[in-house]
Amino acid sequence: MNNRIKLGRSGLEVSPICYGSWQLSPKYWGDVPTAQVVEAARRAFEVGVNFYDTADAYGDGLSEQVMGEALAPLPRDQIVLATKLYWHFYDDGRRHPDLSGKYVIEECENSLRRLKMDYIDLYQLHSFDPLTPLTETTEAMEKLRKSGKIRRYGVSNFTVEQMRLAGRSGEYTTAQPRYSLLDRGIENDLLPYCATEDIGVLVFSPLSHGLLTGKYDGTETFTDFRADNHRFSGQKFKDLAAAVRSLAPIAEKYDMSIVQLVLAATLANPYIDCAIVGIKTAAHIEEAAGAMGKTIDREDYFAIRNAIKE
Ligand SMILES: NC(=O)c1ccc[n+]([C@@H]2O[C@H](COP(=O)([O-])OP(=O)(O)OC[C@H]3O[C@@H](n4cnc5c(N)ncnc54)[C@H](OP(=O)(O)O)[C@@H]3O)[C@@H](O)[C@H]2O)c1
Repeated sequence: MNNRIKLGRSGLEVSPICYGSWQLSPKYWGDVPTAQVVEAARRAFEVGVNFYDTADAYGDGLSEQVMGEALAPLPRDQIVLATKLYWHFYDDGRRHPDLSGKYVIEECENSLRRLKMDYIDLYQLHSFDPLTPLTETTEAMEKLRKSGKIRRYGVSNFTVEQMRLAGRSGEYTTAQPRYSLLDRGIENDLLPYCATEDIGVLVFSPLSHGLLTGKYDGTETFTDFRADNHRFSGQKFKDLAAAVRSLAPIAEKYDMSIVQLVLAATLANPYIDCAIVGIKTAAHIEEAAGAMGKTIDREDYFAIRNAIKE
């Protein structure tokens, strides 16, 4: 299967659909059975996905641990494992940001232990730490890279100016911003910046936490973190759900599901390399993988953009 792209100047060769594992964070998503996730992560590889995104903070280590178990039987040199750090968390639930050099070195060891891996392919700063000079964080990242514990490093949730600062201190070769057809703000600044610097872009929440799947009619209620999200209640939810469902005829024209159409439209942007899709089941990743390599006519692309609006 030739569904591989180069992730900017990181040189990492990855599938344009990345497996997202934040769903193993009970505080946000409730209890998702870990056996189901293990099955889904292995199925991902069978359907052409080689790129997996996790973070130490997802379930305070749970996601890394389960992803490590899931990926253990797969050929290590054929998968690209990305994780993140930023939240210094404790057993009693306390947490605070920490990208100090000391913590970066310590936490990388913790992540490797949970993942049961010898190295991390892509180590990302989950967010910007206002207390630590980036030069200090970068020095630690470079130490990890030189010792072979990480292959590449990148950032997430950074503004363009923060990325510029990071770029002055080291080789941050990827960015992980939020982007969906409903949240297109980065088109004006971060995407052109990353393209100029040949920084690989992997976007998170491309289905807007499930809203852009077409599976809702706007009457559903949620017990997870979406209960507090304004897009998942009231008239706004109904309007957005109807707008997404209105895409059905376009999806049908391309013999795609709405999920696949939305992901294909997301990846149609030439400055977006990968879409990280949040996965709970094998069926989720099978469907998402079906969007890889699919193209949409210009007219339909803009019709989709016009339909998906707040
Ligand atoms: N760097 C960061 O700060 C950051 C922040 C957020 C996320 N992320 C990463 O990005 C990933 C994706 O983000 P996300 O989880 O917010 O959002 P998402 O991909 O926009 O939405 C995920 C949700 O969409 C639904 N879904 C996925 N595939 C489906 C399918 N084929 N059919 C029907 N429903 C489907 C599921 O909803 P149900 O739960 O309703 O089944 C799933 O929980 C995360 O897992 C994580 O790896 C990173």
